[in-house]
Amino acid sequence: MGGACYKPPVAEMDLLSWMESRVRARTLPRHVAIIMDGNGRWAETRGRSRVEGHREGSRSVRSVTREARKIGLEALTLYAFSSQNWGRPDEEVGALMQLLAEYLDSERAEIMDNRIRLHTIGETGRLPGFVRERLESVRAASAGNDGMVLTLALSYGGQEEIVQAAQAAARVGPVEADALEAHLWTAGLPPLDLLVRTSGERRISNFLLWQAAYAEMVFVETLWPDFRETDLLGAIADFQQRERRFGLTAAQVTSG
Ligand code: IPE
Ligand code: IPE
Ligand code: MG
Repeated sequence: MGGACYKPPVAEMDLLSWMESRVRARTLPRHVAIIMDGNGRWAETRGRSRVEGHREGSRSVRSVTREARKIGLEALTLYAFSSQNWGRPDEEVGALMQLLAEYLDSERAEIMDNRIRLHTIGETGRLPGFVRERLESVRAASAGNDGMVLTLALSYGGQEEIVQAAQAAARVGPVEADALEAHLWTAGLPPLDLLVRTSGERRISNFLLWQAAYAEMVFVETLWPDFRETDLLGAIADFQQRERRFGLTAAQVTSG
């Protein structure tokens, strides 16, 4: 699945286009972020290695990115590797870095063809050289693209981000919310509207702590390797049913 040769059966294709037209008919979230969780469990229940779960998960990244671009999201942010994930066994960390490099090589053309701009957030200086070189190359090549911004959170931690932003803000003046926000790695991206987490876990795990202040949260049971186009559209449809109040009363929001 996910490759150029994948043709969904007719019924599945109908469901996909029906869901696309439904979410397009209402206001889309500008910025969707996803905690891509459950690769290990997906593999373990099949008697396969965790690394195979990550490999299948990278296929979901392709499908979901393509769909997000197709429906016209402005920004998609994917939590691919946390600051805390460095503590996993060396073999798993190494395999994840290898997969990331393979992903960047294989997706470069698709990113360019779809005018996607690749961005990263996190302490990317900690990534191995062979990953940093590829990231920098795709980032630079795609910098002028005017389509969706695809942000990969790599070696990312929300607390780490806030600490560095506070330190940077303090160097130039008083630490106020706007000043701090300007130094977050997400500066320049649209505000976060929707945060999705797969695999049934209901926690934020150090992702976009500041940015999630008024984001709508959708938690789904689906494991990340099983999360594909229709699952993204389902999460967006859920978001579109919500009333966002930002601290105001329902009456204020509906009259505004
Ligand atoms: C998410 O899947 C991918 C990363 C954190 C890199 P996990 O590897 O956390 O999968 P589970 O949660 O163990 O099933
Ligand atoms: C969050 O998932 C990090 C990513 C999806 C990259 P984890 O699997 O690392 O989070 P916990 O350990 O369940 O909180
Ligand atoms: Mg996990």
